[in-house]
Amino acid sequence: MLIVQLSDPHIDIHHPEKSGALRRAVDHLLSLPMRPDAVLVSGDCTEHGRPDEYALLRELLRPLTVPTYLIPGNHDDREEFLKAFGPQGTQGLPGFAQFVVELGPVRVLALDTHCPGANGGQLDAPRLGWLAERLGEAPRTPTLIALHHPPLLTGLKVMDSIGLDGTHALQELVGAHPQVEAVVAGHLHMRLVRRFAGTLVMTAPALEYAWLPDLTQPDKLIVQRQPPGYLLHHFTPDTGLTTYASAVSPGPWETLHDGQGWAP
Ligand SMILES: [Fe+2]
Repeated sequence: MLIVQLSDPHIDIHHPEKSGALRRAVDHLLSLPMRPDAVLVSGDCTEHGRPDEYALLRELLRPLTVPTYLIPGNHDDREEFLKAFGPQGTQGLPGFAQFVVELGPVRVLALDTHCPGANGGQLDAPRLGWLAERLGEAPRTPTLIALHHPPLLTGLKVMDSIGLDGTHALQELVGAHPQVEAVVAGHLHMRLVRRFAGTLVMTAPALEYAWLPDLTQPDKLIVQRQPPGYLLHHFTPDTGLTTYASAVSPGPWETLHDGQGWAP
């Protein structure tokens, strides 16, 4: 089971470089020898949440031809988002883009952390209650929780000021449900991994770039723009979940080991 996570495309009609970044990521994905079973876009799907942006996003994702699921970020507009993508998955929470996707042995719980008018995210009682019910009904099914705002503090003041309200409650819920293989997010435009409630939280870079922050100046946000990329969450019953990171800058394929021995 291979679930590809693209994040933060920020599609903007007036900024064709954003569309170009998503197009390159889709092209790269299509060039791989392995085919994803599903693609997840983890929020900030558009820059302003406008219908024309969602229409363009849909057109850019069309070549993927595998089931594609999207969750909103702070830049999205929930009403327009729901109009554009309708109900997704199963067991949707009415009024939110929050739903379940059953992918063979893996269950994805997609959470909606959008909070209208705010850049920070929110998990309030209805959204957390829905998550508690979903986690409670399949305690032995390997589960991936996907949301836009990662439940963590980085120490980078600017990013922490637009973090996730509801992190503590989420931590308690996840800690009580060991079937959660990982919590995957976007929002930071950086690749990072850290421990969380007995599992891992990890973030995907933005499709236009990955930021590497200057950690010596946490009161500011000073970043180096690095090549963009995305995550590949690979699950097999034997190995559990392994997440690979790909850059969107294809190099040649090389056989390093042919199954018999290492290449000279
Ligand atoms: Fe973003």
